Amino acid sequence: MSKEKYWKLLDDFEDLLTYQHRVPHEGLPKKVLDGTITAEIHEAPIDQNRKDRLAILEEQISQCTACGLHSGRTNPVPGYGVLNPKVMVIGEGPGAEEDKSGLPFVGRAGKYLDKWLSAINLERSKDCFIGNIIKCRPPGNRDPLPEESSICLPYLEQQVDLIRPKVILTLGRIAAQILTGHVEGIGRLRGKTYSYRGVPLIPTYHPSGVLRNPQYRGAVWEDLKRLQKALDEA
Ligand code: URA
Ligand code: SF4
Repeated sequence: MSKEKYWKLLDDFEDLLTYQHRVPHEGLPKKVLDGTITAEIHEAPIDQNRKDRLAILEEQISQCTACGLHSGRTNPVPGYGVLNPKVMVIGEGPGAEEDKSGLPFVGRAGKYLDKWLSAINLERSKDCFIGNIIKCRPPGNRDPLPEESSICLPYLEQQVDLIRPKVILTLGRIAAQILTGHVEGIGRLRGKTYSYRGVPLIPTYHPSGVLRNPQYRGAVWEDLKRLQKALDEA
């Protein structure tokens, strides 16, 4: 058994101990009540625990003053989506619309992102969790500073572990560099599959960049096909 498997097993077991007594018997499928106990008996509670832990993380983010960006935010943008998504999409940081609403990718880039996802039959509300490297908007939409990103990164690390996506799609240079650990530009980083915390990671251009530079559209299409293939294999 690998170390990762071992820790996951311990983690799941702890979830089970914490939550199994809360399972309401009326709500269980008949075959569980019949005594043919299956994974269903602990699947829901484990997800409940992960949801609780994600909510606690969101609360911590909403109170966070760990870097200077907290002073300029209207709302932090912790990220939004489903547990066990097919894809976790990771952008750079909130823009003006996201800062206003507290939700990720709701502006022009977000609408364009939705089109990319639908091109490979993915729906934001059903198949995705969408987040960012940093949770608070940098003034004037400047790039996050390296120290801001590294101060904020533990939130994302915990989100990835709790959300358990099948595949990660990063958008733009900053997310690709930080999560792959490589220093090349996005044009060189894309076109390959990496791994982040045990999850296959595929970098592509940022939708804002592609809106400004339509010549990147072909590359994005290749990256989306790479993503689809990784999903088929996951
Ligand atoms: N750009 C990003 O990188 N993230 C958002 O949430 C919105 C725009
Ligand atoms: Fe905290 Fe991240 Fe916001 Fe900085 S950007 S204040 S580290 S949540």
